[in-house]
Amino acid sequence: MSRKLVVANWKMNLTLEDSKDLIQKVANSVSFHAYVVIAAPAAYLHPLKDFIVGKKNIHLAAQNVHHEEFGAFTGELSAPMLASLGIEYCIIGHSERRIHFKEKNEILAQKVSQLFKHGICPIYCVGETLEQREKGKTYDVVKKQIKEGLFHLKDEEIEQIIIAYEPVWAIGTGKNATPEQAEEVHAFIRKYITQKYGEEVADEIPLLYGGSITAQNAKSLFEKPSIDGGLVGGASLNAEDFIQIIKANFPDK
Ligand code: 13P
Repeated sequence: MSRKLVVANWKMNLTLEDSKDLIQKVANSVSFHAYVVIAAPAAYLHPLKDFIVGKKNIHLAAQNVHHEEFGAFTGELSAPMLASLGIEYCIIGHSERRIHFKEKNEILAQKVSQLFKHGICPIYCVGETLEQREKGKTYDVVKKQIKEGLFHLKDEEIEQIIIAYEPVWAIGTGKNATPEQAEEVHAFIRKYITQKYGEEVADEIPLLYGGSITAQNAKSLFEKPSIDGGLVGGASLNAEDFIQIIKANFPDK
């Protein structure tokens, strides 16, 4: 199977009406072989699941899930709840959750396991801060995030995962990692997973880049051999820009 995909992370933006309008424009404009995942706000997942019926290249993701299966956790959402809506993907460990909600690798590992238990594919995010990069710690940080968040998984689980490399300094800053910088870290991630799980397993895993992807820079990033697609924030809120980004990874045939 192709590892290529493009994921929108809408974060805490858009109304339900805006969401439907954007999805409709994307579905009308991109080629049938595109694979697009939309990480929508939790409240919209159910209505959007109905809305995407018949839009075969559009899939839905949650932006977060609780690490327990059920219980007294007011305001939270569990993996079986997402599964009961037919949601296929869920972002885990976004830097905004690591930073603002103090989510640690240990909790993220539990979230990942909950998702696999309920048949949902995690999109696991890793990435260093500017300070960590400037101190030469990028690889150590990414290694620790992957080891502690994912290395408890069985071969048949980890080969289903999607990993997004999102350097924190590139998120929402307008300053993307260069294709060379991103490629370097992606190649490192695949090698690190190969060392633990072997090439056959590591080769299955889509590696996405995220951080200030635009309609202008997407192609040069997606052309790199270890960059399978993108996790797009700001530019995914504008239909024209997002469509261009999808087309950069899935040119019209
Ligand atoms: P931006 O594309 O807005 O930089 O956000 C990236 C991101 O955080 C996607 O998860």
